[in-house]
Amino acid sequence: MENTELIKYAAEAEKNAYAPYSNFSVGAALLGKNGKVYTGCNIENSSYGASNCAERTALFKAVSEGEREFDKIAIVSSSGDYTYPCGICRQVLSEFMPDGTVVLFSESDGIKEFKVSALLPEAFRL
Ligand code: THU
Repeated sequence: MENTELIKYAAEAEKNAYAPYSNFSVGAALLGKNGKVYTGCNIENSSYGASNCAERTALFKAVSEGEREFDKIAIVSSSGDYTYPCGICRQVLSEFMPDGTVVLFSESDGIKEFKVSALLPEAFRL
C-alpha cells in the first residue's frame, strides 16, 4: 500500500481521538504483512498516566486480532506537523516491527520515512 493511502487511514482514525486534556489528537494506521490496516487514536484519561498513544492503540488492536507482523505505520496529528512516536511507542514498535518503517506527515513539508531501528537504536530485548 502507498504511504499516501496509509496516511489517509491515519487521518480518519485521528477523528476518533479522545484528547480533552492535551487537545492534541493523534491518528495511526498500521499495515500488517497480510495487507490489512489497523488504525488507532490517542485515548486520554483524567488520571493522565492511564492515557494511551495512537500508535499503541493500533498495535494492540492488531495483535489482539492475531496479527504479529507489520510493514509500516503512518502517524498524523492535529499539529499538522511531523509527529514522532514517543519513547514507549518506539519500544513497542521495535518489539513487533524491528525492520518496519515509520511514515510521518507534515501538511507543509510532505512525507518523511524512518526505520524503526533508526528511531530506537539498541532497543531493549530479553
Ligand atoms: N501521543 C500519541 O498518541 N502519540 C505520540 O507519538 C505522541 C503523543 C498523544 C499522547 C497524548 O494523548 C497526547 O498525544 C499529548 O501528549
